[in-house]
Amino acid sequence: FKAGSLSEADDGPLYLRLQSMIRSGIADGRLRPNDALPAERDLATNLGVSRVTVRKALRGLVDEGVLRQRHGSGTFVSRSADRIEQPLSRLTSFTEDMRSSGRVPGTRWLDRSTDRPSAEEATILGLPTGARVTRLSRLRLVDGDPVAIEAAVVPASAIPDPLRVDASLYDALAAAGMHPVRAVQRLAAISLGAAEAALLGVMPGAAAVAIERIAYLPDGSVIEFTRSHYRGDACDFVAELSLAS
Ligand code: GLP
Repeated sequence: FKAGSLSEADDGPLYLRLQSMIRSGIADGRLRPNDALPAERDLATNLGVSRVTVRKALRGLVDEGVLRQRHGSGTFVSRSADRIEQPLSRLTSFTEDMRSSGRVPGTRWLDRSTDRPSAEEATILGLPTGARVTRLSRLRLVDGDPVAIEAAVVPASAIPDPLRVDASLYDALAAAGMHPVRAVQRLAAISLGAAEAALLGVMPGAAAVAIERIAYLPDGSVIEFTRSHYRGDACDFVAELSLAS
């Protein structure tokens, strides 16, 4: 990022010229995945533009997924080839999905406890009065990077001891002879609040995909009610579609 290099570029708004300079740096390998960009104020000084211009350029590339910003530590070139993929048309677990794509899933527990269900949870899980739930909330990592926050609620009758769930909820259910066979899943776009953004290492307000899954056992009972927030800059959701017959 040399002084004057922006003015040598084509005409057009300065932030677009800065963006195309960064893009060509990535294209020709001068900027590599995970490389840190200079601090905003250094970029502004070196290039002789305002910090507002730098910020606008970086923000646009972050929104496109070309760069990513980590709260407090700066702006980096994305590992775009490293976006994780979640299948939308198969009932699989996070652990399974990551392993089948050669990635290493990780977990940081935020809550593992038994509790009384909220009214909503009791209704969704179809619990009798007085029944308890097991709460499993965790930060999910892939190859060491946080990608999602996931809060699962299951009937305590299915998993009485939350500490028995190690890395995978579905493995713990399978060990207890329970195999979800059907799920209803709902996706929505959200922007992350400050606390979640900090856990995920992104800027407050960053885009995420909220997923709600309700999974059923073969007898039709609900075994899982899970809310997840997946980082928008790190995850793709893929479904195979066929023509309705
Ligand atoms: C996905 C689903 C969750 C499910 C989880 C189980 O992430 N969105 O609803 O609870 O998989 O994954 P694991 O068995 O790795 O805990």
